Amino acid sequence: MGHGPEKGLTQEVRLRMSGPGQAETPKLDKGLVKKIREARTVSVLTGAGVSAESGIPTFRGAGGIWDKYDFRVLATHEGFRKDPRLVWEWYQLRQVEIAKARPNPAHMVIADMEKRFSSFSVITQNIDGMHARAGNKKVIELHGNIWRMRCERDGLELVLGAPVSDIPPLCQCGSILRPDVVWFGEQLPKNEVEEASRVARESELMFVVGTSAVVYPAAALPVITKNSGGAVVEVNLEPTDVSTYADASFFGRAGDILPAIWKAIQ
Ligand code: OAD
Repeated sequence: MGHGPEKGLTQEVRLRMSGPGQAETPKLDKGLVKKIREARTVSVLTGAGVSAESGIPTFRGAGGIWDKYDFRVLATHEGFRKDPRLVWEWYQLRQVEIAKARPNPAHMVIADMEKRFSSFSVITQNIDGMHARAGNKKVIELHGNIWRMRCERDGLELVLGAPVSDIPPLCQCGSILRPDVVWFGEQLPKNEVEEASRVARESELMFVVGTSAVVYPAAALPVITKNSGGAVVEVNLEPTDVSTYADASFFGRAGDILPAIWKAIQ
């Protein structure tokens, strides 16, 4: 299957927003409603936008993290080698911010989806652990998790229950532990990438929620679904590259749109 939108299913819906939870119900094309209702193998690819309404900032766009901070200093191995204390201060701040956040209605619908579809996976670029907190069991984390740290020397992995207190945290071997997240220039975890590609290939339907779809290999996953004959439904504040081939794109806040779609297919 090519990348062009399928006839009959294509729709682009802009929701008029008048406040949280006040979105108009998206007008779902009948074919799409049927497809969602009947789908058995479903996935959701998420990015920072799905957690935006929980108060966790996105990376790009107005107020985005990479507007304010230099990723070379904070999110590369070189930056960590040069100043591990500074990098850890930033991750500690983010841990504190994430610990205070609560799953929002978009996370909750994604958790409900897992109960409804016989085969369901979340593939996320987020490191915030919010999908698990919302109740999802099958979450493929492509970029790691801010609640884990590891030692590059002896391979020790530690799971955190609260933000780190002593900075920089040390391994029992004396080395400085690093956050178990993927930095720029690093490989993604092999098993997760393989599993995400398999899920994308087998998905009859993939929702793509709150990602700018500019970072690979995550951005290639909906293309895999599309090329394997699956349908792609996008939810974002604004058009992205995914909008050029998605079967449907809904533009508005994920916390308004996903509950509205969910209600429409019940
Ligand atoms: P970005 O910050 O690049 O994109 C966030 C997307 O979410 C944008 O397309 C927004 O329009 C959209 N968005 C914002 N608020 C939304 C809302 N309430 N509802 C729906 N959509 C909303 O985040 P990612 O695509 O996740 O990687 O970025 C990918 C990777 O780049 C991240 O995992 C991170 C970053 O550098 C690493 O750190 C390795």
